Amino acid sequence: MRVSETPHLSDRPVLVVDFGAQYAQLIARRVREAHVFSEVVPSTMPASEMLAKEPAAIILSGGPSSVYAEGAPSLDPALLDAGVPVFGMCYGFQAMVQALGGTVEHTGLGEYGSTPAQISDTDSTLFNGQPSDQSVWMSHGDAATAAPEGMRVTAATSGAPVAAFEDDERRLYGVQWHPEVMHSTFGQRVLENFLLRGAGLSGDWTAHNVVEALVEQVKETVGDKRVLCALSGGVDSSVAAALVQRAVGDQLTCVFVDHGLLRSGEAEQVEKEFVAATGVDLVVVDAREQFLGALAGVSDPEEKRKIIGREFIRVFEQAARDVVGSAERDGHPVEFLVQGTLYPDVVESGGGTGTANIKSHHNVGGLPDDLQFTLIEPLRLLFKDEVRQVGLELGVPEGIVWRQPFPGPGLGIRIVGEVTAERLEILRAADQIARHELSAAGLDREIWQCPVVLLADVRSVGVQGDGRTYGHPVVLRPVSSEDAMTADWTRVPYEVLAKISTRITNEVREVNRVVLDVTSKPPGTIEWE
Ligand code: XMP
Repeated sequence: MRVSETPHLSDRPVLVVDFGAQYAQLIARRVREAHVFSEVVPSTMPASEMLAKEPAAIILSGGPSSVYAEGAPSLDPALLDAGVPVFGMCYGFQAMVQALGGTVEHTGLGEYGSTPAQISDTDSTLFNGQPSDQSVWMSHGDAATAAPEGMRVTAATSGAPVAAFEDDERRLYGVQWHPEVMHSTFGQRVLENFLLRGAGLSGDWTAHNVVEALVEQVKETVGDKRVLCALSGGVDSSVAAALVQRAVGDQLTCVFVDHGLLRSGEAEQVEKEFVAATGVDLVVVDAREQFLGALAGVSDPEEKRKIIGREFIRVFEQAARDVVGSAERDGHPVEFLVQGTLYPDVVESGGGTGTANIKSHHNVGGLPDDLQFTLIEPLRLLFKDEVRQVGLELGVPEGIVWRQPFPGPGLGIRIVGEVTAERLEILRAADQIARHELSAAGLDREIWQCPVVLLADVRSVGVQGDGRTYGHPVVLRPVSSEDAMTADWTRVPYEVLAKISTRITNEVREVNRVVLDVTSKPPGTIEWE
């Protein structure tokens, strides 16, 4: 499949040069929180290519190396001479010091973690309006001991005599610490001061402007052709679809495969609420019987995933053929397929151009390569929280915009054992109670997601009323996480757990035990299968 052009969100982006730390994406997000558009570029990109993007400013990120280490990523001094405002952080700061003729030394006084810093000029461009004592997040072994000529030193710590410098004339700035992390108390203010005061940017990048720009671009790309979208009910595909619908209206057809593995109320949310709110033209394929048939007798998790992926492709391809066929009869062939790829996938697969290498795991089985469509990925420059803002701007229902992650194979991988219609009903009922009580307790934002898992092949003895029961346990798996790569179990208050447990065992007849999963990831994954 080909990919249509990358969307364009600003003529003059702020470039975040990634020196190999895990911080570049976070910096890019923080810049955008200041309403300035930013893009991450690898430090291996030639300076000429960076400057050809006509950046409004350049930020040099932290990185794991010492500036002296062999093979340490280097900073081309051309970036500092181009008249573009530059802000270096941590490794980026030291690389600037070195490139401008200052001294970076291995002093033996490394600083790691929260560190007190003294600001010597609270009227300066970076520190205007802030206290002279602040807590900053450090992570350095080497330190700058002499500032480059012409640079004003504006902060120090006990391990870093030159902890910040500023040169308003050349518009070059730097701090030894990480202003992008929350632990640097005034970090966001320092960053905003650089962007708004140092670089003179206006901070007018908003969800409203993003929607306008993307709508125009989708219109231009699509022309009078037809577009297809596989709608899953998740945030990304829903917002992508709403955006394309806003741009080209009924030229878009969405296909929603109801595989019967969604949670209570979710299919209705897509079929009714989403359609009513966005006006999307939706084809619903009721494939519940087909999926159940294909899953009959299967307990192995990997096999279940494969079957669900395969059936999804079969059903979607058939529906796509029907849509394509009828569009062709109308003389408007379907040329495009919408995909809700996000910026982290793009950055992690090596940059802003080319096809994002989406983890197949995170797609319902992935779509086959031989579908002859050109992909449109209108969200490929946006982070998840921005996609949510864009969704709200487009009127996507809040229940979808704020939906927690839910796996493509759905409840199929939350039933340990064979998936049957009856077991799905049991799990849906228990899951609905857990979700309701967690929301009522105001825990939705604190919890990344809370799978409820039915141990369908396990039974235990219980007693209810006067009778002995022999029912199934369900597992509650509330986790807190930043990105699902690692996670910890959420310390849900006992009263909330008690309420969930009581309600599930009272209201779902087949369940006589509720247990809590207290395993972090690693070693446990978030899902049980
Ligand atoms: P694990 O279980 O690997 O899950 O810790 C990490 C995150 O990915 C979600 N997940 C999936 N999402 N298709 C998806 O779209 C899948 O096959 C799949 N498996 C896991 C999981 O819910 C969690 O957010």
